[in-house]
Amino acid sequence: MKDRLNLMAALSENMLKVNMLLSVFFLPGTLAGCGKNPALRITTPKKIEALSGSCLEIPCIYDTEHTSYNSSRTIYGVWMKGAINFWADPNIVIFNSSGSVNTYSLNIDGNLREKNCTTLFPDVKTSYTDRYFFRIENEPFKASACDDPLDITVKDSPWTPSINIPVGDLKEHQSVTISCSAVTPCPHSPPELTWNLQQDSERQTEKNTDGTFTTKIQETITLSDTHDGYNISCSARYPVNGGSKTAETEVTLSVSYAPKDTSASISPSGLVSAGSWVELSCSSRAKPPASFTWFWNSKHGAINLSVGQVYSFNVTEGEEYYCEATNDLGNQRSVIFLLVKDDPVFGLHIILKILGIMLLCSTVVIFECWFRFSNKPKKEKEDQIYVNTVTETKP
Ligand SMILES: *[C@@H]1O[C@H](CO)[C@@H](O)[C@H](O)[C@H]1NC(C)=O
Ligand SMILES: *[C@@H]1O[C@H](CO)[C@@H](O)[C@H](O)[C@H]1NC(C)=O
Ligand SMILES: *[C@@H]1O[C@H](CO)[C@@H](O)[C@H](O)[C@H]1NC(C)=O
Ligand SMILES: *[C@@H]1O[C@H](CO)[C@@H](O)[C@H](O)[C@H]1NC(C)=O
Ligand SMILES: *[C@@H]1O[C@H](CO)[C@@H](O)[C@H](O)[C@H]1NC(C)=O
Ligand SMILES: *[C@@H]1O[C@H](CO)[C@@H](O)[C@H](O)[C@H]1NC(C)=O
Repeated sequence: MKDRLNLMAALSENMLKVNMLLSVFFLPGTLAGCGKNPALRITTPKKIEALSGSCLEIPCIYDTEHTSYNSSRTIYGVWMKGAINFWADPNIVIFNSSGSVNTYSLNIDGNLREKNCTTLFPDVKTSYTDRYFFRIENEPFKASACDDPLDITVKDSPWTPSINIPVGDLKEHQSVTISCSAVTPCPHSPPELTWNLQQDSERQTEKNTDGTFTTKIQETITLSDTHDGYNISCSARYPVNGGSKTAETEVTLSVSYAPKDTSASISPSGLVSAGSWVELSCSSRAKPPASFTWFWNSKHGAINLSVGQVYSFNVTEGEEYYCEATNDLGNQRSVIFLLVKDDPVFGLHIILKILGIMLLCSTVVIFECWFRFSNKPKKEKEDQIYVNTVTETKP
């Protein structure tokens, strides 16, 4: 019993030694620089999404301050997949720029001598979703950027584009630039963007500050009341192996505008009798909704009668009224005549007005005819005189 215990103790002691040995021999080689001050750092987005069947470009810059690094010597760039435990699974190397390994047909597009490790996955698959590490081998310098893992997520469905509208209240007459943009992990075949604003909007693929790309279309429009409630929809069609994948998004515009289509109405309609009760009502299209004020156009100017959409009163005589619809952006008026039955004064008034207008019109027409008629022969005469003068001056 005691022997067995001793044996077990000895075994576990040996195993511990083996483990320690492994750590001593393998850790420095594979994970050189990992610890508080890693010998290799890379700058890439921390997380990057890709679309299956498309390509993925990973913007990447590496840096090292290690004295044994010398860019004049051969540099190999290595990509590893999964958790770094190299000694347990040597197959985690998926790419070695020496050409010895290239599981995913990768290519380092960047120039390693310029510390550019920009890498292209030409055709990503869902199974590529994983954590990746970059490594530089520049004998005797060898280091993995173990503090800068890169998480790649491969999706089957594309990203919905985003419609960008300036923040703040949109108002009519304002000129705004609206854009639709889509993430572009594969700048070699960017998504095609279409929307219902203007079809000829030019597509641009721009580089973001982190080295990734965005494709966008934009349009500057002058807002009007018709844009309020308008649904802008934008779709992004990503080319993928053997076809394309499309995602769409929609945004509803909200535009403030001054009152439009202001209209005053009277109830009961038509002629009303003096002493009866009438209701004047005003309506308008406005955003924010308009408030209404009723005015009476008296001989001494407009008189503010009441605030509110409806104004009811007891008719005495025919008059002119108007309502004014007002919101923050402006106002609009609508005039209404109240015609009263058995209103001799008002009736006469109207008849006189109509007669006056008719008289004025006919006077104008008669004068015009007389003017043309009496002018015509005179003009011909002048022409003749002119011709005569010309012939006279000839030698
Ligand atoms: C880098 O290597 C080249 C050639 O091997 C050598 O000439 C140069 O001095 C080295 N530079 C440094 C900074 O060690
Ligand atoms: C990369 O390739 C070089 C040259 O074949 C080789 O010496 C090196 O060990 C390889 N590195 C890894 C991590 O596979
Ligand atoms: C790195 O290389 C890629 C591919 O050649 C290039 O597009 C990118 O501009 C380079 N990055 C820098 C920072 O030079
Ligand atoms: C805009 O979209 C919303 C929600 O999808 C819908 O209720 C509305 O009717 C649409 N408006 C127009 C003008 O099509
Ligand atoms: C309207 O005014 C007249 C005269 O002041 C009055 O006789 C009549 O009853 C009033 N009508 C109503 C509906 O108030
Ligand atoms: C009309 O009068 C009401 C109060 O009687 C007042 O609150 C309102 O501001 C006036 N409206 C205008 C346009 O003068």
